[in-house]
Amino acid sequence: MPKKPVPHPVLSTPRLRLRQFRTDDVDAMHACFADPDAMRFWNTPVHTRLIETERSVRNFIDCTPSYYRFWAVADAETDRCLGLVNYHDGHIRSRRASIGYIIDPEHHRQGIAMEAVTAMLDFCFGELGLHRLQAFIHPENQASLRLIEKLGFRREGLLRDHLRVGEDWRDDALYALLTAEWRSPVQRGQR
Ligand SMILES: CC(C)(COP(=O)(O)OP(=O)(O)OC[C@H]1O[C@@H](n2cnc3c(N)ncnc32)[C@H](O)[C@@H]1OP(=O)(O)O)[C@@H](O)C(=O)NCCC(=O)NCCS
Repeated sequence: MPKKPVPHPVLSTPRLRLRQFRTDDVDAMHACFADPDAMRFWNTPVHTRLIETERSVRNFIDCTPSYYRFWAVADAETDRCLGLVNYHDGHIRSRRASIGYIIDPEHHRQGIAMEAVTAMLDFCFGELGLHRLQAFIHPENQASLRLIEKLGFRREGLLRDHLRVGEDWRDDALYALLTAEWRSPVQRGQR
């Protein structure tokens, strides 16, 4: 008998609703993917055509939860998509995955990423029972480095030429957080 599809988990925070992507989120996500500053350290080149973002959003909708899952980070009141958080490269036997995030530049420095990534970490360590979460971050990506350190991730090393973006090779710093180390910023009294 075919298995029933598991519904996409919705994660709620005071200001946000992390929900499944929909095709009408394309314009909102294009505001992220077409912005050269926001894409400076992303793992693909900046999107120059809307169809590239349409393809990406389709891919976000068709998650394979054991391997990767994307959430649209939506305003809890208006439901407008403000960016995304994801886990990817899931490794079931080692209960490990990697995380990513991008927020619309119009909404930077409002604590959106902190709130959204915290909710995803609670879900990954809690419901999913993951043991280790990793983040690969360009050594000059100050915003992402600061965010991940505030969340308690530890730097484990530098991976040389780890990523190929267009024709360029890029280094990444490897950060990781273990389930036993996870205390949300609320528990740590930071927010
Ligand atoms: C990284 C990113 C998601 C942060 O989003 P955000 O919603 O602006 O982050 P927050 O407001 O939650 O900030 C959390 C903390 O990160 C740090 N931070 C965020 N932006 C920063 C910046 N531009 N410079 C330095 N520190 C920054 C701060 O310490 C901040 O806490 P504080 O405001 O209490 O000091 C956003 O800058 C982004 O989308 N960047 C482009 C995509 C990207 O590089 N993704 C990561 C790939 S590894």
